Amino acid sequence: MSILFDLIRDLMTKKKMPSPVQPGACDDKRSDLGQRVFLNVGGGSKHIQVPSHYSGWEHVLLDIDPATDADVVCDARNLEKFEANQYDAIYCSHNLEHYYHHDVRRVLRGFLHVLKEDGFAEIRVPDIGNLLHFMVERNLGLHDIVYQSPAGPIAIHDILWGYGRQIEESGVDFYAHKTGFTSGSILDALTQAGFMEVVMLEPCALFELHLVGFMQTPTADQLDLFGDKTISRHKVDSAN
Ligand SMILES: C[S@@+](CC[C@H](N)C(=O)[O-])C[C@H]1O[C@@H](n2cnc3c(N)ncnc32)[C@H](O)[C@@H]1O
Repeated sequence: MSILFDLIRDLMTKKKMPSPVQPGACDDKRSDLGQRVFLNVGGGSKHIQVPSHYSGWEHVLLDIDPATDADVVCDARNLEKFEANQYDAIYCSHNLEHYYHHDVRRVLRGFLHVLKEDGFAEIRVPDIGNLLHFMVERNLGLHDIVYQSPAGPIAIHDILWGYGRQIEESGVDFYAHKTGFTSGSILDALTQAGFMEVVMLEPCALFELHLVGFMQTPTADQLDLFGDKTISRHKVDSAN
């Protein structure tokens, strides 16, 4: 009996729980930039698909949760203590909303610290502006379901404050959302942290913002990784 109970509990634990993020459509490109290494910040698990432009790259997964299969178990607010200049890219999907607003800048500064000087950070976060617009327009309630994820149905409340089932089952607050972004606020966060150019990309999923911050003016090869998904480019005026 207790073996069955343990099995059911094991299946329900956070390390077995699939991603509450809607499966992405960002798997259209392959990288020909050679052997590169990317840091997957708040990656959760190597079983969660990353965009195929990272195929062939070395994948280093960082997460605060020791129950994950992370290569580096740490709080991403401490990245500035790491060795500088190590990674060609950072992939950070549905993680930045897990920090208080005042900590986001610290996390992004950490990205700049560990990235190589021509590196970039690819970010995906919930699009709260679009979500609120959708909610008001359709007169929806907080607990109305807006899409199905591999982990189960996702309600507006889950997008705003974090996936309720995961927060409840894990019993840890790092699964809760502590801030949210609109297209303007995430763009400001990246440029104010020090990225020289930010490219807005088509989202991989519903109610999502998807963008890449470059340390330097991106090369043609780098832009080609995301090219057909580009919505807009924002260069920081270096005279400022
Ligand atoms: C919603 S999951 C996203 C997982 C995966 N990146 C995806 O797109 O499906 C958020 C992840 O951020 C991690 N996380 C939360 N706070 C963190 C922190 N302070 N430092 C590093 N990782 C953190 C959680 O443990 C969790 O694995």
